Amino acid sequence: MLAPMARVVVSSVLAVDLGPLLPAGTAVIAPGRGSYSRAELLATLAEADALICLLTDRVDSELLAHAPRLRVVANHAVGVDNIDLEACARRGVMVANTPDVLTDATADLTFALLLAAARRLGEGERLVRSGAWRGWEPTQLLGVPVSGQTLGLVGLGRIGAAVARRARGFDMPICYAAPRPVEGAHELGARHVPLDELLAGSDFVSLHGPLTPETRGLIGARELARMKSTAVLINTARGACVDEDALADALTAGRLFAAGLDVFAAEPALSPRLVACDRAVLLPHLGSATHRARARMAELCAAAVTDVLAGRSPTHRVGP
Ligand code: GLV
Repeated sequence: MLAPMARVVVSSVLAVDLGPLLPAGTAVIAPGRGSYSRAELLATLAEADALICLLTDRVDSELLAHAPRLRVVANHAVGVDNIDLEACARRGVMVANTPDVLTDATADLTFALLLAAARRLGEGERLVRSGAWRGWEPTQLLGVPVSGQTLGLVGLGRIGAAVARRARGFDMPICYAAPRPVEGAHELGARHVPLDELLAGSDFVSLHGPLTPETRGLIGARELARMKSTAVLINTARGACVDEDALADALTAGRLFAAGLDVFAAEPALSPRLVACDRAVLLPHLGSATHRARARMAELCAAAVTDVLAGRSPTHRVGP
């Protein structure tokens, strides 16, 4: 008797065609374009052995209840805050993510945001496009310096460390806050300090940790009040790590120089108060958005599914 065909649901069109990357004979169920809505996704899962999903798909008990045959969820992201890992473990569903392949892309974007916020590139672009620019002026759109200024990294994992490597090229003293000292930090020239010391001493504070119950709202009114009024906050991690209202308060009152945000608490919804802040540079979650990174993320998802369908544990398995 022929083995039943494995069915892989892919919740969105990805940067590469997954068909050739999956075992021969696999049935791939995916939208013709764009992404499945929640209702469409749930409706496709009844026979699915594997799911490749986006960070915008919630993998929770409700979804798992619609997928009785599911064996693996491959998250097309490094962050897994969209997945109820406990519920997956209870159901014996393996979870995999896509680390490493997006580290450089995300660190590059972090630096782009840092420079853009420090040197007021968003305001400058809007001025030029509006037609209101009247020419060079000695006091126009003055920013804060980057070279030689202190960078505080909240989290020194793969992406934080890659940002630190870039910062060294800008002669930036680096400190980091993390639950415990990180191996290799010394070689990066990064000093381990308590979060409060980092906030008070840094000219740039950049967030590089996962969203967990402990890091939700990590940067709130109290933390922002500790930062220098000339400082810049950068967030390419998860929006919910920052209290957006408190950030809008600080920017509006001039208690913080600027912010560069690639992520938001309730994407794609935006805080109208942040949108109103000229000093906030806002991007639509572009951290990993290069052709190369997105292709490799799709390939890692296909590899994780292939592993599990063959009875192996995926290389980048994540657990509760
Ligand atoms: C992007 O935000 C990711 O987690 O990969």
